[in-house]
Amino acid sequence: MSKVQTVPTTASDPTVAAAAAQFLSPVVLGLQALTVNGKQAHWHVRGANFVGVHELLDTIVAHAGDFADTAAERIVALGLPIDARVSAVAAKAGATSVPAGFTQSDELVRAVIADIDAILVDVKAAIDGLDEVDLTSQDVAIEVMRGLEKDRWFLVSHIAA
Ligand SMILES: [Fe+2]
Repeated sequence: MSKVQTVPTTASDPTVAAAAAQFLSPVVLGLQALTVNGKQAHWHVRGANFVGVHELLDTIVAHAGDFADTAAERIVALGLPIDARVSAVAAKAGATSVPAGFTQSDELVRAVIADIDAILVDVKAAIDGLDEVDLTSQDVAIEVMRGLEKDRWFLVSHIAA
């Protein structure tokens, strides 16, 4: 007779999984919002440095999608779901600083920086909150912070003296 072994969904402790979901979910939702609002900015930028800002915004959108995927899959790897439907994203992320319609590049750059700064608040909370709980999930948050701060630098450099 063959012996069938039960395989647990996750190797992780349930409290660890819950903490990872608690702290990484807001990060995922904010990043998903950035993928949408960043495209809005990409399509409507006008004025100085058009090509550079237009292309940079696409790069930032791509990075945001990658960061969201990494954070979401950390939660799922620990056995928990995440609600990242558009309705959930809208409820969490709230209003973007990106205006509707064609906008001058310096105003759009400032708006996307403001959106990134709002996400960074949640990322910092995740780094702090996961510190004593799960270093692997904290590492995801640190990776997101490092990437977002680099993208923020690229944006700031367009408007800094
Ligand atoms: Fe495009």
